[in-house]
Parts: sequence; structure tokens; C-alpha cells
Amino acid sequence: MSSGFQPAPNPSIAQTQAARTAGRAHLLVIGNEKGGSGKSTAALHIAVSLLGDGAKVATLDLDARQGTLGRYIENRAAYCKRKGVDLPMPVHAAVPLSILPDRAAAEADERARFEAALEQVIGAVDFVIIDTPGSDTHLSRLAHTWADTLLTPLNDSFIDLDLLARVDPDTLKIVRPSIYAEAVWKQRQLRAVQGGRPVDWIVMRNRLSSLAARNKRDMGTVLAALARRIGFRVAAGLSERVIYKELFLNGLTLLDLKRGNGGPSLTLSHVAARQEVRDLVAALNLPRPDAAAPSAAPATAPAMPDPQAAG
Ligand SMILES: Nc1ncnc2c1ncn2[C@@H]1O[C@H](COP(=O)(O)OP(=O)(O)OP(=O)(O)O)[C@@H](O)[C@H]1O
Ligand SMILES: [Mg+2]
Repeated sequence: MSSGFQPAPNPSIAQTQAARTAGRAHLLVIGNEKGGSGKSTAALHIAVSLLGDGAKVATLDLDARQGTLGRYIENRAAYCKRKGVDLPMPVHAAVPLSILPDRAAAEADERARFEAALEQVIGAVDFVIIDTPGSDTHLSRLAHTWADTLLTPLNDSFIDLDLLARVDPDTLKIVRPSIYAEAVWKQRQLRAVQGGRPVDWIVMRNRLSSLAARNKRDMGTVLAALARRIGFRVAAGLSERVIYKELFLNGLTLLDLKRGNGGPSLTLSHVAARQEVRDLVAALNLPRPDAAAPSAAPATAPAMPDPQAAG
């Protein structure tokens, strides 16, 4: 497609802000092969936050079979109609899996439909937020190579961390990165070879316990070590709150609750939760829509660390 990869100064990855290309949307991919980590919930919350700042936002669902994000947005549209309120809406599209039996043909079909969906919006909006399935699919891998910013929500559990790294149970030392970290590593390399700009990878902790439990502390220690080893940033993340489950049926986010739109009234817990969402969006450090195109000067970030290297 015409808006293809720009030449990269070098394949370094450790960025604190992904670069924006003038006239082209910034692509935020939300990915984690582990199901149920909060990808779709984060996708809509971030979309509504950016819309609230006046940005133009498109959302793309690559998990069309489950269709959570599409359903969330449908619920939102239905809520607006029912209550006669006007809530900001992203432009939404879904890319279903190919039904072609031949694998190569199916992958070519998916690539063509993914790029066509992007083509529809990439020159017209400021941000495209891509929600991916909680499994390893060709479409998901493809999207990862397009990410300017990659956000990985991670439930605060060693079961979920297992997809990022094997951890020694006695010492909590990282034995080796595991499948999702390796997949991101490969996609980063592929992107660099294709001349793409470096991706800014952020891991966000989700469903954090309000208790100062040992699990929470140990997860923090291991994630900090892993971040240094495989090159991601850690965002503080979201606490465990039942409100996230309740908002879905009306397609609302915590950021809508202040708007006097007939939704649940704000409690102190909701105010704290809303602040966590705002902090998360701030931690993403997405380039502003009006930011100038980055110069082609060589990046000063350190070279891409090998996830298999000792550390
Ligand atoms: N911080 C949170 N507190 C409580 N519940 C949460 C939180 N974040 C997400 N959930 C709930 O966890 C479940 C999974 O969330 P979500 O569907 O966003 O995950 P996902 O990563 O998109 O899942 P999948 O991999 O199946 O697409 C949902 O029931 C959602 O409401
Ligand atoms: Mg989902």
C-alpha cells in the first residue's frame, strides 16, 4: 500500500516515544497471545480517551470471530440511541480470518484485507488502535509488524507471565524469554528488515490486587528485570475492579461516567479507576496528532537486545 514502511535509521528498539510519520495515523497494536488479559477493554478505554482529547481514532478488530471490541462499540451506539446522548465513537472495522483452505492463499487473502482496512483509515485519522486475538494467528503476527506502539496488557499472575518468560520458582530469575516475547522479537526484526521505524513496546499490568500481596511484589520484580532484558517499558496499569465488567453492556468506559449521560453514577473507586486509565494513556506517551514528522537523524537508543542473551 502507498503508506508503506519508511526507511529506518537503524533497527534499535528501546524508545520512550514512538515516532509519528506526517500525514499517517499512528498505529497502536494491543497484543498478548494469552486470552483474557484485558486487550479489548484497554482498546476501547484508550480509544475513548484519545477521542476525548479531540483526536480522530479508528479501531480495527482482528478477533472478528469473538468480536468483543465490535460488540462493545455496537453496545455504545445502541446506548447513545436509547438515552439520546452523544458519545465520541471511533471508526470501527473488523478483519475476519480467511476461509480459503490453502494456507498460503489464506495468508495472502488476510494480508490484502488487513491492508485494505488500514488503507481506509490510515490517512484520515490520527490513531488506529488494533485489537488482536488471545492466540497466535497470521493476522495478529501481521499487525505486530505494523505496530508503531505495542501495548501488552498482562494479568498480574505468573500464569500469564509464563508467555513472556520462564521464571525460576526459587530465585525468581528469568530462565529464558518464552513464546510471546520471542514472537515480538521476530516481528521487530522483520519490521527492521522491512525498513520500519522501531516499535515502542509497553507492558501494562492489569487486574492488580488492592492488597500488598507477595504475588504483586514478585510480579513487579520479575517484570522490571524482564523489561531490561527484552526491551519494553512497564506501565503501572489497572486495578481489579468489577466496574470494567459492568460497563460492557452499555458500551461505556470509565471516561464516560463524568459526562452525565445516564450511566452509573461516579463513586470514589470509579474516580480512582478513571485516573488509572488516564495514567495508562499518559504512560503510552503517544505522539500528539499535530507533532511534526521525526527527522531522519540516527536514533540514539541502544541496539536491539537479543532476548536469548544472558541477563
Ligand atoms: N482491570 C480489570 N478488572 C476487572 N475485570 C477486568 C479488568 N480488565 C479486564 N477485565 C475483565 O476481564 C475479562 C477479559 O477482558 P478482555 O475481553 O478485555 O480481555 P482480552 O485480552 O481482550 O480477551 P481475549 O484474549 O479473549 O480477546 C472481561 O470480563 C473484562 O471485563
Ligand atoms: Mg479481546
